[in-house]
Amino acid sequence: MPDSRPIAVLGGTGPAGTGLALQWARAGETVIIGSRDGQRAQAAAETIKRKAGSQARISGMENSSACAAAEILVLTVPFESQAALLKQLKPAIRAGSILIDATVALAAGVGGRASRTLGVWQGSSAQQAAELVPKGVSVAAAFHNLSAELLNGDEALDCDVLVCSDDPITTQLTRSLAAKIPGVRAIDGGKLENARILEQITALLIGLNIRHKGHTGIRITGLPPEAYAPASKS
Ligand SMILES: NC(=O)c1ccc[n+]([C@@H]2O[C@H](COP(=O)([O-])OP(=O)(O)OC[C@H]3O[C@@H](n4cnc5c(N)ncnc54)[C@H](OP(=O)(O)O)[C@@H]3O)[C@@H](O)[C@H]2O)c1
Repeated sequence: MPDSRPIAVLGGTGPAGTGLALQWARAGETVIIGSRDGQRAQAAAETIKRKAGSQARISGMENSSACAAAEILVLTVPFESQAALLKQLKPAIRAGSILIDATVALAAGVGGRASRTLGVWQGSSAQQAAELVPKGVSVAAAFHNLSAELLNGDEALDCDVLVCSDDPITTQLTRSLAAKIPGVRAIDGGKLENARILEQITALLIGLNIRHKGHTGIRITGLPPEAYAPASKS
């Protein structure tokens, strides 16, 4: 069953954001693409709609309008723009929203290697985001390890999503969104501080992709079946 609440993907015009939006649009969710430029957001939404089908409920708007229109926010911007964007959007983010951060502090953003991460003072991009959102907004870290190229394709993915958050309800909601992506099993990955490990794994996967010319994902084995079961909606 689709969640009745819209999902706003901020920075949703890039490959990671369009891929997640496509998956959720195909699953029947209502999706809003956010961008610094409303017209670019609308164009991206039209492109996704052509791939997802005419029944897809997807629109595009400027990032702050997207925040005002949704309480489920997914952040898919380069790490180097994350803090400034969150500061700019703070007045528009609704009380009680949840923010799912997928950003990875890759060294490539400052001229380094894509297979390395930058040190983030707070521990991870997600923990930095948690410091910048308005009070009462909870943060989860997820989706870092999914290949944007595969998310934008037509095949089921071969990857688990680990969800890290300090708020169990936010973890549950994020797991339910992850489980809507075919091939994905959504696993509770513990506290938000574990996001630094998820972000490091992305750098490792990028290095593997470069070395072996592939599209890697991760699978977690050995847990009881309920750990992999799609979480029920909050
Ligand atoms: N690519 C992957 O496979 C993948 C997978 C998992 C996670 N991630 C992470 O997800 C994030 C997005 O990845 P991506 O490859 O989609 O990135 P991207 O294409 O470089 O950027 C995504 C969007 O961010 C917006 N943006 C760029 N610079 C900005 C700025 N200075 N201020 C505000 N918005 C800005 C742009 O949207 P507008 O110009 O329309 O505003 C852009 O389309 C990154 O942190 C990445 O590490 C990527």
